[in-house]
Amino acid sequence: MAEQRAIGDFRFEGSLVMILTTIAWREAWKYRERGYRYCLLDVGHAWQAVALAARAMGCRCTAIGSFDDGALGARLGLAGDEWPMLILKIEGGSIPLGTTAPTASTLPAGVPNSLSAHVLMPDLIPEIHAATCENREPWERPDSAFTDTELGGRTFGNVARSRRSALDFIGGDVEISMAQLLALLSVTREPLLTIYIYVHRVSGLEPGLYRYAEALERLKSGDQRVVAAGLSLGQNLAGNACIALSMVANVEGAAARYGGRGYRYAHMEAGAVGHRLYLAAEALGLRATGIGAFFDDRVHEYLDLETGQVVYHFAIGYPVPDPRLEP
Ligand SMILES: Cc1cc2nc3c(=O)[nH]c(=O)nc-3n(C[C@H](O)[C@H](O)[C@H](O)COP(=O)(O)O)c2cc1C
Repeated sequence: MAEQRAIGDFRFEGSLVMILTTIAWREAWKYRERGYRYCLLDVGHAWQAVALAARAMGCRCTAIGSFDDGALGARLGLAGDEWPMLILKIEGGSIPLGTTAPTASTLPAGVPNSLSAHVLMPDLIPEIHAATCENREPWERPDSAFTDTELGGRTFGNVARSRRSALDFIGGDVEISMAQLLALLSVTREPLLTIYIYVHRVSGLEPGLYRYAEALERLKSGDQRVVAAGLSLGQNLAGNACIALSMVANVEGAAARYGGRGYRYAHMEAGAVGHRLYLAAEALGLRATGIGAFFDDRVHEYLDLETGQVVYHFAIGYPVPDPRLEP
């Protein structure tokens, strides 16, 4: 539900500007310190959901991650536990531009609702947030679009509305094709990320561990199902899927270029890739599941990483029926 918070000129450029915020302790209830990473991944998903929808309406969406956190929070009248994370500037298309300037201006009034009296905020989360406040180079990202071919002849709205996470995947002999794998990988490009793929069942491709940069490069041969599930906190779906992925971020490069904030951008890019994978899988007649729970150090060892940090896992294949979604 949209609630009008204030009237006036907030001096943001763009026909429509959205600011995505997070209340980290809502995630901390379940995920403790790791909740901060889930917030960043979620922001990446939401960014991509808006950006792709905007493009489907003929608009352009620019994501801006570099701003003064405190100043923006104050301008929006946010409570202290609600943090602005990303600005989305949407322009063009059929969004009507306001023709009359607002005559009166009011700042956001009132006191934001408190979600619960029982706040559970691990000390580390505000510390991580503060450590990732630093701005160096600006981070602005253009949007991406799905082509008609990538949407498999369906409208963007139709694919987006039918997207769901798979609870688990049908194991056994079912395979995806090489063309499906390449179509999925084509939506994974983000500057800070490298994609590692645990290939379980892709027709014509030997099972093994692969890295995808410009092309597929095999790093290890052999069945990866047990290892992919084990690394993903023992979640069977990562082994039952046709492929599982580890997204590895160049956090060192991100920090050198963007300062502490680079850590946020690395996770947001991973969330954005995750969202595109969900939609690409759906359009291909497959399903996907984002996996935020994995053993970081074990993944680093298995992938033999000298630099970089694993930020997100994903599993894609044929879903088991989900009784909650049956009519
Ligand atoms: C950042 C993130 C991390 C997730 N981690 C897991 C996970 O570790 N295991 C799992 O089964 N599902 C995971 N999911 C899937 C969520 O459970 C699922 O998205 C949520 O229940 C909403 O369902 P929907 O995607 O069908 O809308 C994750 C989703 C996101 C966005």
